[in-house]
Amino acid sequence: EERPVQAREANPAMTSADRPIGFGRVQRKEDPRFIRGKGRYLDDIVLPGMLYGAVLRSPLAHARIVSIDTTEALAHPKVHAVITGKDLEGLNLAWAPTLSADVMAILATDKVRFQGQEVAFVVADDRYSARDALELIDVEYEELPPVIDARRAMDPGAAVIRDDLEGRTDNHIFDWEAGDAAATAAVFARADVVVSEEVVYPRVHPAPMETCGAVADYDPIDGKLTLYETTQAPHAHRTLYAMVAGIPEHKIRIIAGDIGGGFGNKVGIYPGYVCAVVGSIVTGKPVKWVEDRSENLMSTSFARDYIMQGEVAATREGKILAVRTKVLADHGAFNATAQPTKYPAGFFSIFTGSYDLEAAHCSVTGVYTNKAPGGVAYACSFRVTEAVYLVERMVDVLAAELNMDPAELRLKNFIRPEQFPYPNKTGWEYDSGDYEPTMRMAMDIAGYPELRREQAEKRARGELMGIGVSFFTETVGAGPRKHMDIVGLGMNDGAEVRVHPTGKAVVRLSVQTQGQGHETTFAQIVAEELGIPPEDIEVVHGDTDQTPFGLGTYGSRSTPVSGGAVALAARKVRDKARAVAAAMLETRPEDLEWEKGRFYVKGDPSVGKTIQEIALGTHGTVALPDGVDGNLDAEVTYDPPNLTFPFGAYICVVDVDPGTGKVKVRRFVAVDDCGTRINPMIVEGQIHGGLADGVGMALMEFIGFDEQGNCLGGSFMDYLIPTSMEVPDWETGYTVTPSPHHPIGAKGIGESATVGSPPAVVNAVVDALAPFGVTHMDMPCTPARVWEAMQGRPTPP
Ligand code: CDP
Repeated sequence: EERPVQAREANPAMTSADRPIGFGRVQRKEDPRFIRGKGRYLDDIVLPGMLYGAVLRSPLAHARIVSIDTTEALAHPKVHAVITGKDLEGLNLAWAPTLSADVMAILATDKVRFQGQEVAFVVADDRYSARDALELIDVEYEELPPVIDARRAMDPGAAVIRDDLEGRTDNHIFDWEAGDAAATAAVFARADVVVSEEVVYPRVHPAPMETCGAVADYDPIDGKLTLYETTQAPHAHRTLYAMVAGIPEHKIRIIAGDIGGGFGNKVGIYPGYVCAVVGSIVTGKPVKWVEDRSENLMSTSFARDYIMQGEVAATREGKILAVRTKVLADHGAFNATAQPTKYPAGFFSIFTGSYDLEAAHCSVTGVYTNKAPGGVAYACSFRVTEAVYLVERMVDVLAAELNMDPAELRLKNFIRPEQFPYPNKTGWEYDSGDYEPTMRMAMDIAGYPELRREQAEKRARGELMGIGVSFFTETVGAGPRKHMDIVGLGMNDGAEVRVHPTGKAVVRLSVQTQGQGHETTFAQIVAEELGIPPEDIEVVHGDTDQTPFGLGTYGSRSTPVSGGAVALAARKVRDKARAVAAAMLETRPEDLEWEKGRFYVKGDPSVGKTIQEIALGTHGTVALPDGVDGNLDAEVTYDPPNLTFPFGAYICVVDVDPGTGKVKVRRFVAVDDCGTRINPMIVEGQIHGGLADGVGMALMEFIGFDEQGNCLGGSFMDYLIPTSMEVPDWETGYTVTPSPHHPIGAKGIGESATVGSPPAVVNAVVDALAPFGVTHMDMPCTPARVWEAMQGRPTPP
């Protein structure tokens, strides 16, 4: 068993001699293509005769459409078609189902409900003409009062946003709860200490480097639609297009090429995709649509927007007894949140954190507002980010109340290793964990006691240094079909492994990488199981005509679900290879031993057959045993028995400029545990990226609105994302607590750092401001907010 090891490895130069066959620091197979600029992203696709589409968007947040006049745009010499909601109505495509049992407008027919909503689609010879023609469309709007503040959405006089829904008289979407309200109330009633705080996770955006887009190519002769898309879930998209547009599923091919980042932004089906398809059908030519940066930020999905009332009950000695929260969730104009059907608040109920509690209860109310729809799982497993931020902020609020060290308070309350599998109080079963060594390692790397001493000295001099701690547990790998589906599709994934006669292999996946390195790591899983070097294994994904069905990549589910499928498919191949090897060696299968890449006769290791020899034998003339056919191929659809529960300990050190309120992240220590690590280099890369993202959300990322509903975060001038200047050199370590139910013991890692880091940064900022009596502040901790928090309070000693 691998025990917790502290690692601050530099990436060693690799020679062919020490290149691992299986798990290890294999360099990314996809990188030669990326670093030479040879990636094939959506906008690189150019088809013969291709036309270009552009979307006309609403300038208003809430207005009735009186009329749309497209005459002038249609007269533009380079325009081929102008499509409006009325045209789509004729095709029954003006409205489409969302991922959350609501409907959303593809092109507005009756009203516009958020600034940036899609109103019309122009198809022209080139991108510029399409954009020019948008300005020739004349839309007459009758303005309506917008609902911008979610807290006002249920006011008696609030405008009803969704009057398209029969009988609708308010902006309420759903109420949902988890845990035991009465038991939790009883614990709160007898607790020595109760702390409460309103914690807001603001509206943020995944902002991937590549924006969303599609190239639709409908062939009117054979009725086949080939759709190139920026999608994280090609198979699910194919099924949904078949169900909604009525095109037979076998006549739809979705191709997702290289994708420049997804982070949840590329899960849903956007109006632009559907318009490109309709444009291609109408014009008989391929149509490309690619949104620009502002369109992406303003309309193509947001994340978070949770207003959370958090409460913690504890003893005076610091034993946490129960947590409770009421959440107001702002879902925008259409409930298009991506999550499994039974979970309207995603996996938010993991807000019980890493602590052994007596009771917990959460309730979530979703409301409509005149803002863009979305609620995507932005680098997190369906609202896990919100949950972790809430509990980790609240534990610090409790630490301040009890005047206890926040790291010590956490150590005192962790679920103990012998309690796993741990049933938490809201219905999850944490698969495995050993939290204390992970926390201690982070404190070790950080030099925690020395940091506290340094802080005390600096405080005495009036300097503002903060130390923030967070410890998170995620629930990733959706998921077991008995518990979850998305729009009725079970959340399982297929994998197919084929070993060619010469011993090279191909693995076909239902999941779709967006930069995570699947071409390398999924080859490594096959390599680990079969002993074929990773460079001899081709990974095929992102093309529904070439890969088995599955639900795609988001919520760090590729490794927990598809990783399991691949390992099991490879094991099926190995079982087959054993039977063939026995025939070749004229012995019984049970008399063979396996070493990576080779079966040999028990007791005589010199007599054996390599996997390559067996492959040739299987496809060759070896007399095959009964029931074994002449290939080394296997296919598995994996239904995981549970999700996986990665965890980690993060410590952030900040310095705050007392004159300007500017926060500098000086150090950041991250110790993660994702069970078995397939490729430690890729795991570290995932963590580095997620940490940068977390620092961004904590300090600068924010999609705000003015009272009229104008989006204030619609460009990178306003929506700030961190650069290398704003982040420190990450200090990482790891522990390994394998998942007991996953075929290779691996848990997801893709989103851990985005989930775990915002509370560490905010806790550090609040800690720096403690001398001013500050116990909480909302993200993003911009200089203005920090400076404001310092005003009118006692100056530090
Ligand atoms: O679903 P997604 O690929 O975004 O997330 P993931 O399953 O957490 O995997 C992210 C990347 O890290 C993939 O290339 C995985 O193969 C790799 N990984 C790993 O090497 N070891 C793990 N225990 C988990 C992920």
